[in-house]
Amino acid sequence: MTHTRAIIRSTGAYLPEKIMTNDDLAKIVDTSDEWISQRSGIKSRHIAADDQPTSDLALRAAKQALENAGLTAADIDGVIVATTTPDSTFPSVAVRVQSALGVPPGIAFDVQAVCSGFIYALSVANNFITAHQAKRILVIGAEKMSSIVDWEDRTTCVLFADGAGAVMLESSSDADADDQGIMSAHLHANGDHADILYTNGGPSTTGESGHIVMHGREVFKHAVTLMSDVVEEALSHNGLSASDVDFLVPHQANLRIIEGTAKKLKMSLDQVVITVDRHGNTSAASIPLALHEAVSDGRIQRGHTVLMEALGAGLTWGAVIAKF
Ligand code: UT7
Repeated sequence: MTHTRAIIRSTGAYLPEKIMTNDDLAKIVDTSDEWISQRSGIKSRHIAADDQPTSDLALRAAKQALENAGLTAADIDGVIVATTTPDSTFPSVAVRVQSALGVPPGIAFDVQAVCSGFIYALSVANNFITAHQAKRILVIGAEKMSSIVDWEDRTTCVLFADGAGAVMLESSSDADADDQGIMSAHLHANGDHADILYTNGGPSTTGESGHIVMHGREVFKHAVTLMSDVVEEALSHNGLSASDVDFLVPHQANLRIIEGTAKKLKMSLDQVVITVDRHGNTSAASIPLALHEAVSDGRIQRGHTVLMEALGAGLTWGAVIAKF
């Protein structure tokens, strides 16, 4: 082995009990199952209980990732949570998870890059591990988007949802793996587009978290192009082509965006992990939730090349390519 790599040792996930269908939403706002299905591909989504904060979702996903790795909290030296819906402005969700799990005092902080949050968090954790500053980091994407949607705004409340996913990222020097692990990460942001997807509030402006405002058509226009571009960037960086990728695990915002990206890459939909129909858009949680599903049902196996990509408010976008 020539250099240290960060390996995805295990995954975990948690979805809240309550399932909300499109028909349930049609009772709240002027919408229909037909509109939501055709425009977004979403059929149903999970919604957290009123008294269930993001840290509770994150903790449950993290516990499962730990269990699946056969490790205990004492084996971990970092917790990084990607979230845009923290329990409180501070402290971070990560320190709450660290404390609840009993992880020894190491690094713990949140990353805020909205729907690209998990890609950003995975990249940051990868840097800590390859710089030998940490050996095992729990990287979690957790969101309670239902707490920041305006339930009277049909353009957003039918799309966003709640959930959490986690991966246990481990230094290859602690594992028996030759070419496994994260191959590269590619992150981008362009704040010129901050006004096409945002919340109309915040701690230093209104003093409240505000609600999601989205100019969907505008975001859509950027999504397919930027995500395809960053995927091409990740592939060419590693001297690969799309046919070398076993599975694409995209951010789950809209089935049409996912299909458009796959088409541009000439990838069969069988190679694309799709959960948006049952999960809705869970922002930073969507990729680790989808990854966990495909690992658990045996589609993604050791040795597979997996490409994860996302675009979110900011705009932020990025991709991570890994040999699972
Ligand atoms: O995860 C972060 C990144 N986010 C995304 O990637 C989301 C990107 N955008 C999208 O996924 C799509 O733009 C949406 C699903 C949000 C919307 O689909 P669209 O095909 O772009 O629809 P639209 O916004 O152009 O709206 C079409 C029509 C409008 O009516 P008019 O103006 O044409 O008369 C809307 O008022 O649909 C209307 N509409 C609805 N009708 C029924 C908007 N929301 C709804 C609704 N039910 N829930």
